Amino acid sequence: MKRSVDEITGSRRLRRNRRFDWSRRMVRENRVTSDDLIWPVFLIEGKNRTEPIAAMPGVERLTADKAVDAAKKARDLGIPAIATFANIPLEKRDETGSAVLDAKGVVNEATRAMKAAVPEVGIITDVALDPFTSHGHDGILRDGIILNDETVEQVARAAVVQADAGADIIAPSEMMDGRIGAIRDALDDAGHQDVAIMSYATKFASAFYGPYREAVSTGGLLKGDKKTYYLDPANSDDALRECELDIAEGADMLMVKPGMPYLDIVARVKDAFAMPTFAYQVSGEYSMIMAGAEKGFLDRDKAMMEAMLAFKRAGCDGVLTYFAPLVAELLQKGWRE
Ligand code: PBG
Repeated sequence: MKRSVDEITGSRRLRRNRRFDWSRRMVRENRVTSDDLIWPVFLIEGKNRTEPIAAMPGVERLTADKAVDAAKKARDLGIPAIATFANIPLEKRDETGSAVLDAKGVVNEATRAMKAAVPEVGIITDVALDPFTSHGHDGILRDGIILNDETVEQVARAAVVQADAGADIIAPSEMMDGRIGAIRDALDDAGHQDVAIMSYATKFASAFYGPYREAVSTGGLLKGDKKTYYLDPANSDDALRECELDIAEGADMLMVKPGMPYLDIVARVKDAFAMPTFAYQVSGEYSMIMAGAEKGFLDRDKAMMEAMLAFKRAGCDGVLTYFAPLVAELLQKGWRE
């Protein structure tokens, strides 16, 4: 017997709420605001210079003075924080990534300049060694092995140097065991009790980092892969165990990376720990949307804003994204989903 739709649904019709723009706005569960954005910025040495990054259309490497302009832009657009990444000359990179400890290095120079000019914008720095090593790995490499404990000592020292320069949040992305606790101890010993730690708690061994490796010039250097320290993309229980340890060691915030292919991880992490939870919409995710838009396959702004909304829906408190200034500009112009 063929039933009418009202018999099937018992007269429940979900489309009623979707009829009008005003009713959709009224029942909308998630919204994107500029407060949700963290802007990753690439740094180079020198003055008053920018460099394009071929694999990331619209993104440039900036000298510290140009980073100050970016910080002012962030402030004016209501973006709470900037995350910095260095591209230093290859001749300054060595086996142990010792340049990460250089208080006058470009990351620390940019932090000091941005904090002096725009103190109201948060500065997040990474202590991973990959932009500083001659082999492109995040840790100290010996006989083909990434040494955990030696790397932890180095990144903990780097965290203090970055905090001394004025970093507000240390975000270690190198996935060594025990790093959060070691960084917390080092910061506290140095009087930086108020400097926070955003753990890249769940960082997966992902192909979506490709364009970033061009941005920091590690792509050509990297031998092998990062599977012995980053998470296996097949695992989500392992990701929860990483979060559990990092929270116990003193992480103030957690990050999931990459973003869109890992929204299930975001949802599990937020649900399990109720911690401030961020996703990193990584370079490959950015460049896919930009390339698709350049080819006319999709609408850049709509795809970008839908992605932001998806992060919020999954449980993110914020998103690290190269789209941050574009999203904030659209929102300022009154964008509506
Ligand atoms: C490494 C690091 C990576 C990214 C930032 N820091 C991954 C990698 O090169 O293996 C990726 C960021 C992006 O793709 O946007 N510590």
